[in-house]
Amino acid sequence: MMRIGFFDSGLGGLMILKAARQMLPRHDFVYFGDTLHLPYGGRSNDAIYDYTQAAAEYLFRSEDCALIIVACNTASAAALRRLQQGWLAEYFPDRRILGVVIPTLEVTIEKNCRRAGLLATERLVQSQIYQIELQKLNPEIQIFAAAAPLLVPLIENDGGRWLPEVLKHYLSPLLAENIDALILGCTHYPFLRPYLRDLLPEGFPVLSQDEIIPGKLADYLARHPEIDEKISRNGLTKYLVTDITSNYTKTAAEIYGASLDLEKVVL
Ligand code: DGL
Repeated sequence: MMRIGFFDSGLGGLMILKAARQMLPRHDFVYFGDTLHLPYGGRSNDAIYDYTQAAAEYLFRSEDCALIIVACNTASAAALRRLQQGWLAEYFPDRRILGVVIPTLEVTIEKNCRRAGLLATERLVQSQIYQIELQKLNPEIQIFAAAAPLLVPLIENDGGRWLPEVLKHYLSPLLAENIDALILGCTHYPFLRPYLRDLLPEGFPVLSQDEIIPGKLADYLARHPEIDEKISRNGLTKYLVTDITSNYTKTAAEIYGASLDLEKVVL
């Protein structure tokens, strides 16, 4: 039987995986965090493509995934289309790779946002992927993006006490544009929700992918029984990383809310 793969550049995707496990508690998952190459946010498209392809190949060949969720926004922007249209079609035509940008935009539209703020990595903001995809779905919605290169290193390295100051700095140009919602366009950013509560007006809509992706995945599986029926249901999850340090083990436990048995893979 096969599994659902969750790919991220590091450990932030664990928050989305955790929420997906809660929604689909019987399905079997494999998490793959490319901690050796983290952060992706400042890397070139070619490097991100190569890393993502290597991880996908491992998840398909060695872990027998029927479907991979590229939970990393940066990899969704830099590699997803190219992987889906070339490599996947040629080598694994019966498997699927899905990203996180379109589902997030669908929710932005459902919530009637008109001026959405987007907080993301540098590479993601440069890619303009949210604006490009939104043009196809609803060109009337505007996106105001802010690159926030310090957030991932702070989250991955226990830098919580500096987050309010840094967040305030990144949010202020977005708030000056009168945004009516904030998209958290990075796997690590659900971690910011408690900090954002103090920095945004009460009730301000924050679109966080740990609240978006699990439901979209469940919908996808309901619409694609030919994929869903291949996935085993033992309620098991494996946690793979490409590098382990004591700091990663600690961060994984903090992000996930429980200690995890991280396994190192060599590609
Ligand atoms: N996981 C990446 C994302 O969702 C960001 C972290 C990184 O820079 O590697 O965009």
